[in-house]
Amino acid sequence: MNQPNHTQITLEFNNMMRGRLHGEHGITTTAIDELAERAKSAQQAVAKNRGNNELMLGWTELPYNQAEIVKEIKTAASYVRDTYEYFVVLGIGGSALGPIAVQAALNHLRWNELSHRNGPKFYVEDNIDPERMASLLDVIDVKKTCFNVITKSGATAETMSQYLIISDLLKKEVGEGWQNQIIATTDEKNGNLIKIGKEEGFRMFVIPDGVGGRFSELSPVGLLPAAVCGIDIQAMLEGAAAMDKRCESDDVWRNPALMEAVLQLVATEGHGANIQVVMPYADSLKFMADWFCQLWAESLGKNVTRDGKAVHYGQTPTKALGVTDQHSQLQLYTEGPFDKVITFLKVESFRTEYTIPHGCEEFKNVAFLGGKTLNQLLDAELKGTEFALCQAGRMNQTIILPEVNAHTIGQLLFFFEMATAYMGELLNIDAFNQPGVENSKIASFAVLGNTGEPKYVEKAREMQEQTKPDERFIL
Ligand code: PA5
Repeated sequence: MNQPNHTQITLEFNNMMRGRLHGEHGITTTAIDELAERAKSAQQAVAKNRGNNELMLGWTELPYNQAEIVKEIKTAASYVRDTYEYFVVLGIGGSALGPIAVQAALNHLRWNELSHRNGPKFYVEDNIDPERMASLLDVIDVKKTCFNVITKSGATAETMSQYLIISDLLKKEVGEGWQNQIIATTDEKNGNLIKIGKEEGFRMFVIPDGVGGRFSELSPVGLLPAAVCGIDIQAMLEGAAAMDKRCESDDVWRNPALMEAVLQLVATEGHGANIQVVMPYADSLKFMADWFCQLWAESLGKNVTRDGKAVHYGQTPTKALGVTDQHSQLQLYTEGPFDKVITFLKVESFRTEYTIPHGCEEFKNVAFLGGKTLNQLLDAELKGTEFALCQAGRMNQTIILPEVNAHTIGQLLFFFEMATAYMGELLNIDAFNQPGVENSKIASFAVLGNTGEPKYVEKAREMQEQTKPDERFIL
């Protein structure tokens, strides 16, 4: 295995292994070795197809092919930073979760409330809850806002409806030149946004071919919002490239993302761990868990293999926050069903240290905290949780970030993306499509009476048949 160094994130998986879990639980080195050949083929397949846009593996090249775009992004970002007080992303799914996660990880935890911020206030409007839109408009001044409309397909109803609302508002409130306040990030060829953008003359960034929504954080989708918030996007890309380098080996014992895929495969298939809880012990990484959950769920939850065999694959990702969820979920994790792997995200060195003052000396169980730091307490609680899980025979592992910075976040993003691609290969499924999302999309368009395409009309008929009023169970 690679030796850890101080800038490198590491996967520490001792607590996944049988030796630590007292009894029949946990993975053996033999189980990993038995999968070594399959893992080798998976790694080789991803390596062979890297950059292949048709197979949606264009994202593997993002750490290297964005140099020109990075220059453009920096120019646009510095214009936005100098000109606007608010920066609002309109996008959903892969067009929203990455920007949220990276901003939360790398900037002040209360960015929007800071009086001296190194950039505009930042909002990501993914959901279409009307109250949310109204509340956004209550707190921003649209005349002082740059809107970044992000959609790969250029057709997502949620994003396009938000675009319609905002463009209408800008036309009314700003009038001539309203188009300057919109930056569109979309596919170069497909969808409506590219056409609208050309017609209106928006500033535009292209999401490269072969880069699906949930793999797009290292493209302009994530890089522009990050740069607007003053994040070092070059360092993020370098971090991703550094992780890519560590994934060059087809030996599972030398490639961390490949090991991660193998561990989850053995955990799922051999030990019934159908759930993976990602539990950062750092508020800054809270939304990284959300980003991971989409990546893992939408990529790996599939009902058919690439050669058409019916399956129902997919480990359910879910998130928790340390230490908060020790007081909410941990009871279930330690004593509930043996159906989970807990993946901790641990930060070795926080950007700040906070010392707990002495006091309450007559109460020993309180006084012992005095003089310790919150950092020590957080670390002790993570150690305690790991210990308790191991004693209860529960598999857990820790991804260690020496510190949270643009480079380690780049590594983490790429680590999870590669692990997802390897897992797709190991399961022989297409990790880059999402057909299961389509049905609900078509059905909701049918509900709204869209008759633009026969599929909507057909779906409306199917829905009517399914919901016969006398068959409803309602209390
Ligand atoms: O990962 C994906 O492909 C999806 O989650 C998309 O990002 C999401 O559906 C939004 O799509 P689009 O970017 O086309 O608006």
